[in-house]
Amino acid sequence: ISVSDQHRTAYHFQPPRNWINDPNGPMYYNGYYHLFYQYNPNGSVWGNIVWAHSVSKDLVNWKALEHAIYPSKPFDKFGCWSGSTTVVPGKGPVILYTGITDDKNTQVQCYAVPEDPSDPLLVKWVKPDDINPIVIADKGVNGSAFRDPTTAWWSKDGHWRMLVGSRKKHKGIAYLYKSKDFIKWVKAKHPIHSKSSTGMWECPDFFPVALEGKEALDTGVIGNNVKHVLKNSLDMTRFEYYTLGTYFPNMDKYVPDNTSEDGWGGLRYDYGNFYASKSFFDPSKNRRILWGWANESDSKEDDVNKGWAGIQAIPRTIWLDPSKRQLLQWPIEELNSLRGKEVKMNNQKLNKGDYVEVKGVTAPQADVEATFSFSSLDKAEAFDPSWVNAQDLCAQKGSKLQGGVGPFGLLTLASQDLEEFTPVFFRIFKAANKHVVLMCSDATSSSIKSNLYKPSFAGFLDVDLTTSKIPLRSLIDHSVVESFGAGGKTNILSRVYPALAVGDQAHLFVFNNGTEPITVENLQAWSMGKADIK
Ligand code: FRU
Repeated sequence: ISVSDQHRTAYHFQPPRNWINDPNGPMYYNGYYHLFYQYNPNGSVWGNIVWAHSVSKDLVNWKALEHAIYPSKPFDKFGCWSGSTTVVPGKGPVILYTGITDDKNTQVQCYAVPEDPSDPLLVKWVKPDDINPIVIADKGVNGSAFRDPTTAWWSKDGHWRMLVGSRKKHKGIAYLYKSKDFIKWVKAKHPIHSKSSTGMWECPDFFPVALEGKEALDTGVIGNNVKHVLKNSLDMTRFEYYTLGTYFPNMDKYVPDNTSEDGWGGLRYDYGNFYASKSFFDPSKNRRILWGWANESDSKEDDVNKGWAGIQAIPRTIWLDPSKRQLLQWPIEELNSLRGKEVKMNNQKLNKGDYVEVKGVTAPQADVEATFSFSSLDKAEAFDPSWVNAQDLCAQKGSKLQGGVGPFGLLTLASQDLEEFTPVFFRIFKAANKHVVLMCSDATSSSIKSNLYKPSFAGFLDVDLTTSKIPLRSLIDHSVVESFGAGGKTNILSRVYPALAVGDQAHLFVFNNGTEPITVENLQAWSMGKADIK
């Protein structure tokens, strides 16, 4: 097989060919998980967008169905863009999506329902002419920046509510719409929230999380035991950020907590390549699941040659961290069904400059969990308070520059002699009265090939260091390294395209490049099977 075929994933969702972007309308209904996604049936660059549709019993293995939504009406003739599903009691699932009506990118919100609600796979969808489009931009709303309706939620005042992403000049906006019958929608007096200088808010997502525990809540739940999450995707940076906050249903307002920034520097689900994400409540397991899209980071020309572009990240369960300052995420438990042969490494000591191979695992297709421990933080490097941007700091320090406590972690997708490797690692600094932990997934040396985007993705990690350990999990899948730091506090997905470290020429190492010795405790690495994605 060609090298580019070696970059296709084995267990991350991707269709056999062509371009994909946002996950749309994920839901669980009548025993099946549904995933719709933005898809170009005609090629491997963006365009001609339809909603492709796959179903699954376990979120790992998928069966493709015919396209659910495609341009067929005046109100969506130029594209069927992102949106959501809502399961409406007595009615069944309803899709709200953005239709493009003309070549000026005018956006309206549209409505579709299953042709036969008793069809377990919900193959065919209809767009009733008498009610569509259900929302058009009124005066004062920017009609070419007005898209991506959320899942709607029902409130005791007898109204459904949903959000539509937008902007006014540089201010990002989530408009709130209300409806009694799901068909006639009226804009609320004020947006539910907006923020200056953040630009267009694509793919808003709004949902409650329980204050305690992992159990999730359906989208409409309110009360004293919940916080709300508002996430937006910023098209200017291609990053998302979210805030935790309080939803005041009577005032149609959402007010973010002041524990993190409401803006560019805010919390991210993922500090790497992860965009246009959307969550849904899974009633079968009482959890909330997050889907996100990871674009390629090779060139357009590469994508044309490969004939495919874009994958979906592994679905992640999300819940509130006990600190109540951020969310936690973890790959869905069903992924473990693909774990095959396991290898272990116990109490492996790593002195400065050491790297040790984890042998016996299929290194390009693996799931790795490891805990790294240290005995003291005395050697931690001083933290300069001007280092506010984690990615810049990672780019500056990398994995090769020797540190005090760290850099230590994994070298994934590594060639035997380390001409290529994608390190995923931690580096601990000492600030005025606390320690600062940097988590990094650095693509700089991921490939000897040029003409690739090789960012030094990084985030800070708000972790309790009194245990003197940091756990790390990495899902390695040929051109994907998707990592979860400290049990899902800081997460980084990176797309990389090794030329040498492919197939059985790829290796996995643990490493330490700090003066403080590190111990790798209980590393487990599983060779991963191939998901059945038809
Ligand atoms: C986000 C996005 C959405 C839009 C869709 C079009 O990636 O730009 O705002 O609905 O993709 O494919």
